[in-house]
Amino acid sequence: MFNTSNEISYHASSVLRIANVLFAAFMGYRSKYDLEIFDASKRELFKGIESTGKNKKFTLLEIGVGTGMNFGYYPNGTHLIVIDPNPHFKKYYDENRKKFSNIKSEEVIVTTGEEMNEIKPNSVNAVVISHLLCCVNDIPKVLHNIHRVLVPYRMRCT
Ligand SMILES: C[S@@+](CC[C@H](N)C(=O)[O-])C[C@H]1O[C@@H](n2cnc3c(N)ncnc32)[C@H](O)[C@@H]1O
Repeated sequence: MFNTSNEISYHASSVLRIANVLFAAFMGYRSKYDLEIFDASKRELFKGIESTGKNKKFTLLEIGVGTGMNFGYYPNGTHLIVIDPNPHFKKYYDENRKKFSNIKSEEVIVTTGEEMNEIKPNSVNAVVISHLLCCVNDIPKVLHNIHRVLVPYRMRCT
């Protein structure tokens, strides 16, 4: 029985913390199986990214990075910025990023796709959201933020 709203919010935050720890551990455990299952479709999906990143400095933002399942698909030299609201993914993300010295990955920024005020406007060349939109609370807000942070792309036609 809860007596005060403080008690209720204390218990709710404990439950949320336990859920976050378990979810991160579950995803960490599943990673190697998911890599096999999704490998062919991810190769196809990430083809476009390679051609964009060939010559220039290429900054990529991954929202909801989790354990960092997509590192293997990013072009050499990619500057990778990542966010995830669940701080318990950090351990798995850090273990995984050690295997990919060909990309320059930053520390995880703990925030949501709805907020992510730390990411400057017009500052990234590509945004990756894999298995993300099923998890967020406000899809239009996340899409608005993606539009905000992407460098405008201009095509030159002659
Ligand atoms: C199903 S996992 C996918 C992880 C990873 N992108 C992948 O493909 O393996 C969803 C991820 O989104 C994160 N997430 C949940 N809500 C979020 C939000 N509002 N903004 C950003 N990330 C969120 C979760 O913490 C989790 O890491």
